[in-house]
Order: sequence, then structure tokens, then C-alpha cells
Amino acid sequence: MKQLIESLREQTAEMSAQEVLDFFTKLYPGKVALSSSLSYEDQVLTHMIVKGGKKARVFTLDTGRLFPETYNLIDTTRMTYGIAIEVFFPDYKKVQEMVRLHGINLFYESVELRHLCCDIRKIEPLKRALEGMSVWVSGLRRSQSATRVDMQMVEWDEADSVIKLNPLIDWSEDDVKQYIKDYSVPYNKLHDQGYPSIGCQPCTRAIAPGEPIRAGRWWWEDPDHRECGLHVKR
Ligand code: ADX
Ligand code: SF4
Repeated sequence: MKQLIESLREQTAEMSAQEVLDFFTKLYPGKVALSSSLSYEDQVLTHMIVKGGKKARVFTLDTGRLFPETYNLIDTTRMTYGIAIEVFFPDYKKVQEMVRLHGINLFYESVELRHLCCDIRKIEPLKRALEGMSVWVSGLRRSQSATRVDMQMVEWDEADSVIKLNPLIDWSEDDVKQYIKDYSVPYNKLHDQGYPSIGCQPCTRAIAPGEPIRAGRWWWEDPDHRECGLHVKR
């Protein structure tokens, strides 16, 4: 696998994000899927998928705790681009059991319970969404946080046995905003209200000017370990 990843990295090193996406959808027809949180970055990637001829699936993980603005954007995007956004839900039995044992807002109580919630509401549905896929496309950028500085555009995701593709890995926040503007891409209005990074409603707050862009995510936890588990080695 190491050799394959190295060869793919070499072949795509000089490509733009659009070219990389087109390259992978051609190489793995019907086997490429974007996980979209409807963030700025994911909206850019959705636009690129549409531009490239709609050759990749787009899915979102509905944790049940998203912002109303995010739910609205799922439908706006679907209608704007004439694409299906597949919505994956968590296993209701697991959610019920978790809430019965630990309460509805368990994530504030400990890091362990927060991870349990992310595992049940995001990670397990992600695994289902990626079944049968060869390439998982994500909107990660290195400059988003200290936890992401070592990430590469092409990686091997051991936990899900797929190639992980991060076409915007080198993009700045300004690059993303410029693209959204240039192509009139529909975006989450919360981005204009102090939310550069948007996750679940109870776990995301607005940030003050000058704060790091992910400061509003799980703000009560240690900043160096704030990941939900989607993008760390599992
Ligand atoms: S998170 O791990 O902290 O939640 P973040 O919000 O920065 O991640 O988003 C990074 C990437 O993770 C997104 O570009 C997207 O590919 C994926 N992602 C995050 N949340 C979701 C979601 N609810 N549904 C689908 N993909 C998601
Ligand atoms: Fe649960 Fe918060 Fe994780 Fe969403 S971000 S799955 S509400 S702990």
C-alpha cells in the first residue's frame, strides 16, 4: 500500500485541486466519495465534483445535533446542483442506550464521553458510508489546526481501508473564501457570524476576532487534542 500511495503522490504532486479530483474519479470510477459537513471547504469540493461531471458521491453524517443552518444548506446544495447528498444517520439503538446511560449532553462531562458520542454519531456512520469505496475525499486543510500540520494530500486510511484524499490540504482560508465568491457557491451563513469551523451545535461556539479558527470546537477541552476521531488514526 505504501508504494501505491507514494506513486499516487508523485503523479498528483503538481496538480490543482480540481485536477486531482478528476484524476481520482477517472482512476476509481464509482468508488470516490466526499464526506461533506457542508463547511466552506466541503462546498468548494462539492462544486468541483459538479464541475467535473458529478463523478463522485457526496454524503453527510447527520449526527442529529447539527445547526438548523446546516440542515437548510443540505437542501439548498442539493437543489442548486441537482445532486443527491446522501444523509447517513447513527444507529438509533446505540444513541438511545448512550443517552439512557449518560444523558443527552454527555459530551460536556468528560473527554471519554465526548468521544463515545462522536464514535456513535459520526464514526460508525462514516464506516457505513465508505463501504465499497476506494477513495474518501475530505476538506481538511493543514492550516486549520496544530493537529493537521502533518497531513498529506494523499494518505492511506488504515481504519477504513481507503485512500484518503485531501485536495485542499494546502489552501488558505482566503483561498477557500475567494473560490466561494468567484463561483457563487452556496455556503453556511454561520461562517459570516463568527463560525469559521462548524460541527455539532452543542459542541461549536462562535470565536472572537484573532482566535484560532477551531477555537470554537469542543472549546472546553485541551486545544492540542480536539479532534472528533474522523481524522485521527483509529
Ligand atoms: S471534525 O473532525 O473536526 O468534525 P471538521 O469539521 O474540521 O472535522 O471537518 C473536516 C472534514 O471532516 C470535512 O471537510 C469533512 O470531510 C469531514 N466531516 C466533518 N464532519 C462531517 C459530517 N458531519 N459529515 C460528513 N463529513 C464530515
Ligand atoms: Fe456528539 Fe458533540 Fe461529537 Fe456531535 S461533536 S457527535 S454532539 S460529541
